[in-house]
Parts: sequence; C-alpha cells; structure tokens
Amino acid sequence: MSKLPTENKKSFIKLAERLGYVPTYIFSKLDKEKQDLIQKNVDVIDLSLGSPDLPSPPVVIEECISALKDRNNYRYPPFWGHKKFRESAAEWMKKRFSVTLDPESEILPLTGSKEGITHLAFAIINPGDLTIVPSPYYPVHARGTLLAGGKIYELPLLEKNNFLPDLDIIPQSMLDKAKLFFISYPNNPTGAVCDFDFLEKVVNLCIKNQIVLVSDLAYSELTFGNHIASSILQIKGAKDIAVEFHTLSKTYSMAGWRIAFVAGCKELVNALYEVKTNTDYGVCNIIQAASIKAFTIPLTEHRKTAMIYQERRDVMMQKLKKLGWNIPTPGGAMYIWLPVPKGYKSSFDFSEALLMKAHIATIPGGSFGTYGEGYIRIALVDSKERIAEAVDRMERAGLVFN
Ligand SMILES: Cc1ncc(COP(=O)(O)O)c(C=O)c1O
Repeated sequence: MSKLPTENKKSFIKLAERLGYVPTYIFSKLDKEKQDLIQKNVDVIDLSLGSPDLPSPPVVIEECISALKDRNNYRYPPFWGHKKFRESAAEWMKKRFSVTLDPESEILPLTGSKEGITHLAFAIINPGDLTIVPSPYYPVHARGTLLAGGKIYELPLLEKNNFLPDLDIIPQSMLDKAKLFFISYPNNPTGAVCDFDFLEKVVNLCIKNQIVLVSDLAYSELTFGNHIASSILQIKGAKDIAVEFHTLSKTYSMAGWRIAFVAGCKELVNALYEVKTNTDYGVCNIIQAASIKAFTIPLTEHRKTAMIYQERRDVMMQKLKKLGWNIPTPGGAMYIWLPVPKGYKSSFDFSEALLMKAHIATIPGGSFGTYGEGYIRIALVDSKERIAEAVDRMERAGLVFN
C-alpha cells in the first residue's frame, strides 16, 4: 500500500499528523514490482520478509484444532490472558533462562511482539520524548515512538564493533532525556549476537540513567554454533526497569497465527495492559491454548530448528564468498546483512537490481534506519537448494561484490 497523504487538498478527510512521522512501512515500489513479476508467473525467490517457511509443530496444530472445537473458546478472552497461558510462559522462562516471574503480574500475552512494542511506546512516550534505538533496527523499535509523537536517537551498529552499539558514545544529554532504550540480540537485520557482559552493561546504564529498557528477544532460540542467547531478566536489577518481548512467530514458525508475550517489570507490564484494554479484546483463546502446548516442547527441538537456519546460512555464506563478499558470519536470527557493491546509488537500487535481474526479493537496508543504508537484508526463509539457486542467479546476472 502506498503512503497515506496526511493532507489531501481534494478530500475533506484530514488524517492525523502522526501518520506523517513514519515512512511507508516497507518499500512499496519494490513490493509492487515483486507482485507484478509473480503475476507474470516469474519464479521469484522471496527472501524479503522474515516470515518462517518451516511448518508449525504438529502437536501445536493438533492442540489448536481441538481448542477450536471447544465452545468455551468462542467468547471474548480475558484481558490478562488465560492464567494457564501466563503460568506456562513463566515456566518456559524458568526452564529456558532460570528466570522467576510472577504469572499474575509479570507476564502478559500479546497478539504479537510488534503490536506489544508499539503499544508500550504509547504507554511511555509523550510528544517530544526520546527513545534510544540502535540502528539499523527492526522498524517497529523506532516507529512506536514516532507514532506516539516522540523522537529517536539512532545509535549506530557498525561492522567494526560486531554490530554492537558503543555505549560510550551516547551523549549524556541523550541519556538524560531518553525514556526508552531498545536492544535486540540475536539481531534483525544484522544477525549479530551479544554476550552476557554486554547485556549487563546495558542494564546498568539504564538503571544509572533511569531509562526503561526494552529487550526484543524474538530470535532467542535461533542461534548458531555454541551460542545460546541470554535474557536481560537474568541480570540483577533488570526486573525493576526492563521488559522483554518473546514471540512464538519464529521459534515455533507461527507467524501466520501469531502470539507473543511480554515479561518483566510489573509496572511496565501493567502500563501495556492499560493501553491494550483500550485497543483490543485480548489474544485469541484458541491460539493461547495451542501455545500452552508449544511451551512444553523440549528445548532440544529448538536447537534442531536453529540448525536448519544455520545450514542455510552456511550455504549462502560460502557461495557469497565466491562472489567477492567477505562478511562476518551471522551468529543468530535468520538474516544475511550484505554490503551493497560499488556502482549502486542506494540499497534500494541494489535490491531492485536483484529483483529485476535475478528475481530475488530482498529488503533494502535503508528500510532499517539511517545506519542500514549501504546494505541489503536477505532472509533465510527458503530451502538450502533455493538459497543456493539464488546466489547462482546473482552470479549469472553479474551481481557480485567489487
Ligand atoms: C526483532 C523482531 N521483533 C518482533 C518481530 C515480530 O514478532 P511478532 O510476529 O510477534 O509480531 C520481528 C519480526 O520479524 C522481529 O524481527
């Protein structure tokens, strides 16, 4: 969909100014070009959105079918979600991170992390307030604040720092002003991971400067090699100032029937609850029932899922290396963050060349903030064979690194 004009001289409809604060969600021109190719029966390898192609776990599907047949599920869900869901999510956090959470006040189910993150910004940000967002970023980390009328400070994530932010460069004036600080490792779009020390530093910085910390742990289970992601809630004092978003979209390949939860500081969880009671009717009963089952799946299964993405990563990295790209190996998530070769005006130009000349859909790095320009993001959401075919197509089309 194209960008909504907030002022249309021909119409009496005057849209809210806040729609003018956010750029169009994803490059709509590229999306239109992709759809046009698909209409013409062109075989597009779609590596654009981070939408998992793997099936949801069969036991979760079975549970969903049986919940659908239970007429108790046909009425509105409770605003706080089902007690059993909150208890199961708390047990999962205990099993996975050894974190203890009170299911009565420190966990809230969400339709998705994306929705929850935006609503949290509405609970915290007044017009003019500041959020520190490491950039490139998952767009919603910035846009929740922008929609609420706030401002963002983009903290660069650079390859020379392994795509971790240099906390020492944040001006004290920004730390004094900021109300929110986002982190998200394993990272979308860079694929970077962080260690426990880094998380401790961020938590302590936020405690010292009285900033609310938000960790988006969407890819907690998608890490490669020996790396296991940590939760900020494992860090002393974090629960007083931080919340963490967890989604089932990636871990359980449930993006098409999304559900997520927020965990941590009860004051913040409650603030998000307040916004949600005014904007939605809670999370679908049936999907809550299915996810209670998902939480019981042994953690070892997630390592198998991660291995599938790791193999795809390896196929793509090896082949890209032959085309001249010598880039850091992503430690997690499901993306390759690829520098744009010389000769292209922008990341959009290179993404468009990949689409039109090699029929590969990707996302231009500029969509992920100021520091995303100069890169494109490739999502590992197709089989190893198709991923290999994508790089072969690049080679045939002369789309190599120079
Ligand atoms: C970092 C990050 N957070 C959240 C989401 C969305 O999660 P959900 O499907 O729960 O809204 C994504 C989706 O790509 C993501 O990359």
